[in-house]
Amino acid sequence: MTSRISGFHRLSLHGRRRALGVAAGLSAAERRLLAAPLPLDVADSMVENAVGVFSLPLAVALNFRVNDVDRLVPMVVEEPSVVAAASAAALLARAGGGFVAEADRSLMIGQVQLVDVRDPLAATERLWHARADVLAAGRALTPGLCARGAGPHDLEVRMLRAPDDAPMLVVHVLVDTGDAMGANAVNSLVEALAPMLEEIAHGHARLRILSNLADRRLARASVRVPTSALARPDLDGDDVASRIVQAGHLAAVDPYRAATHNKGIMNGVDAVTLATGNDWRAVEAGAHAYACRTGAYRPLSTWRVADRELVGAIELPLAVSTVGPLVAAHPRVRLALRTLGVAGARELASVIAAVGLASNLAALRALVTDGIQAGHMALHARAVSHAVGARGSVAEELERRLVRGGDVKLARARQILRAMGA
Ligand code: MEV
Repeated sequence: MTSRISGFHRLSLHGRRRALGVAAGLSAAERRLLAAPLPLDVADSMVENAVGVFSLPLAVALNFRVNDVDRLVPMVVEEPSVVAAASAAALLARAGGGFVAEADRSLMIGQVQLVDVRDPLAATERLWHARADVLAAGRALTPGLCARGAGPHDLEVRMLRAPDDAPMLVVHVLVDTGDAMGANAVNSLVEALAPMLEEIAHGHARLRILSNLADRRLARASVRVPTSALARPDLDGDDVASRIVQAGHLAAVDPYRAATHNKGIMNGVDAVTLATGNDWRAVEAGAHAYACRTGAYRPLSTWRVADRELVGAIELPLAVSTVGPLVAAHPRVRLALRTLGVAGARELASVIAAVGLASNLAALRALVTDGIQAGHMALHARAVSHAVGARGSVAEELERRLVRGGDVKLARARQILRAMGA
């Protein structure tokens, strides 16, 4: 399978579905499914008070090569430039062999807050000594996970102080959730274990819920781009690379920039997370909390130059799954996973980390050269010309004139359209 499909963006929607079907081995029925709306009965089974369905574009990013395997990357996103930018950066990455990526085992943290603990130090010691018993009880409560080689893995006890200085204990139950995101498994488990923990600690359990700071479930990706591949007609590749490193330096010391730097990463991360039916709010919460782990908000990626290569690396928590009710119920999610061709949650997390790094590279490269607006405006012009009713060759001409004029607005588009006599 190759993720390089030349001229893909110039094909019609139908043509793209056909080309994708050939590349990903999709049947004719599956290709038709790509364009079909979510059935109303599925929507109704997913949330309370459903009244309809809400659609966003499903696209595919090309050129990705991760751990020597080509990947067609499904993305669901409303921002025009995200797919094109990720595909362009993935092509650059290919010049250095593509991305190298990996993900930790799927260890989630379930928290049990214990208050009114009479002697927190003694309770901590008792909890520690009961560790094996608590884990055994946890295993008995999660036979399905354990049968798949996952399940409760470890126990940690932390002593914290409330703002009024009252001590409290927090027990962390570390659970390997396998290919599941794990929220349901972890929440059920900590709710079921809480009475046992209360008894051991001589306190009262309050919150019993997973933590979205999934810092035992990190994914990492790296890339090495020969600086020559970054050259522009007016700029030497070494120069572009060192400007990207400078851009990373600002993010490293300034939270105002780091927030935007990370937003660019999450453009790609969220789009794949959404396309694969995962909880993107959980991924967002984890990413930003992890970015703050030192006490200062920092970038999730770093860039440096070594041996005339631009070297990028990213690390972030990625609690994503390839199984569960949504995969079973949502035909497009199944198709997205099939198109991507991942075997499980860790492989999915690895690819998403690579996509995040690609999105970041695309943004930084644009920012340190032409600026971000040139590319954005070309794509924005498409949406504007469509909104004023232009189609086909008229739309293409209108887009060209809008971009050339630098005023990509609805009113200006209507004016040009009238002048064109269309
Ligand atoms: C826009 O969606 C994302 C960027 O702002 C990211 C960045 O500045 O690095 C372009």
